[in-house]
Amino acid sequence: MNALQLFLPCAAGVEDLLADEVHRLTGLAGNDLLVGRGGVVVQASWRDALRLNLHSRLSQRVLVQLSHTPYRSEADLYEAAAAVAWEIWFTPRQTFKVEITAQHSPLKSLNFATLKVKDAVVDRFRNKFGVRPSIETQWPDVRLYAHLTATHCTLYIDTSGEPLFKRGWREDKGDAPLKETLAAAMIAASGWDATVPLYDPCCGSGTIAIEAAQVACRIAPGLLRRFGFEKLLPYQAHVWSDLKGEAQAMARPAEVTVYGSDVAFRMVDFANRNAQRAGVEGVVQFRGGDALQRMPPCEQPGLMLVNPPYGERIETAGVAGRTQGGRVRAAPGAGREHAQTEEAGDFFVQLASHWKKNYAGWTAWVLTPDLKLPSRMRLKESRRMPMWNGPIECRLFRFDMVAGSARQREAGDSRAP
Ligand SMILES: C[S@@+](CC[C@H](N)C(=O)[O-])C[C@H]1O[C@@H](n2cnc3c(N)ncnc32)[C@H](O)[C@@H]1O
Repeated sequence: MNALQLFLPCAAGVEDLLADEVHRLTGLAGNDLLVGRGGVVVQASWRDALRLNLHSRLSQRVLVQLSHTPYRSEADLYEAAAAVAWEIWFTPRQTFKVEITAQHSPLKSLNFATLKVKDAVVDRFRNKFGVRPSIETQWPDVRLYAHLTATHCTLYIDTSGEPLFKRGWREDKGDAPLKETLAAAMIAASGWDATVPLYDPCCGSGTIAIEAAQVACRIAPGLLRRFGFEKLLPYQAHVWSDLKGEAQAMARPAEVTVYGSDVAFRMVDFANRNAQRAGVEGVVQFRGGDALQRMPPCEQPGLMLVNPPYGERIETAGVAGRTQGGRVRAAPGAGREHAQTEEAGDFFVQLASHWKKNYAGWTAWVLTPDLKLPSRMRLKESRRMPMWNGPIECRLFRFDMVAGSARQREAGDSRAP
């Protein structure tokens, strides 16, 4: 019986991909699977909730909706939270935490609103059992969420615990790691079906390549971690262990190799260690090297998925960028930002001409906040998809590297003024 209403939040731009994933994992469709803003709403069973935690690569969490009521004041929030049967989900001996998100809420202080929801939960337990649960903000047993719009308050209990992008294998990371959920969204958007090679030439700690390698091996993303639902009252160890057993039985050897390289050898080291923890060290190959110089890692053309360096978060390095040692090469008289922009510009122009010359037949998908990247690279994209990397608005561009385009383009370029 699909007795629960679940909300699965995801990065903006990823909602349709997540709905496809949920459909594939649960078979749910129609009114049981609705695409919302920033996530999908699912009518599902408790078992589905556990399965989604274990298998979803795109969702940030799996929340169970427990109430949806109109509100105008903090007192209304108190009433709404006091009416929820929290005792079905946890006991007063467990710690909990309340988090509030809001869009166009008329309330002045979200801190005060949080306090009112927390008081209502505590009071409900105290009235029923004479004991109150404690608050724990860092490592709570149970997480409650309230989402406020201009008119309505929705209350959820979280079944995931730590957010789902934390798969449990990425202990080593660089300066601008991509969330695993977003790396998975790039893979899903590209339509990669694990039958052609995949290559990330700016791989950092290996997130995209490792996610792809797990997809190729059908390794469930949640097998290495714990979940919030393990501390909730409906949890039954045998149900969970069945689901994990089914997931383990699905794993199989990959048909292709996944490749990654990075100009920073420290990153290659990190990527290798992460791949080992993720159980895919036999499927991925990481190497050091400048993306502007590395030739295709294999003969068969495949797919490149790239989250390149960009000024705001991380600088380009290698032949077009900073010094090989990673120190900033100060341009006399030039501001740091000015130098960065110019060098990043160079990097992308050179990357495009390297790809045009040497990667004929490959398809490249590039995630960037630079909405003008195609014209900067003098490449025409064949797809552009909006995707948010946290607060940063990005596009995922697809470029098809057609054989012969380099020569035509160079001829065109030489005619340019
Ligand atoms: C935004 S980070 C990628 C992060 C990666 N997706 C992860 O999750 O860890 C960009 C990466 O590009 C690398 N990089 C910078 N210039 C490069 C170049 N010329 N060739 C190859 N990699 C480069 C940096 O060392 C950094 O690891």
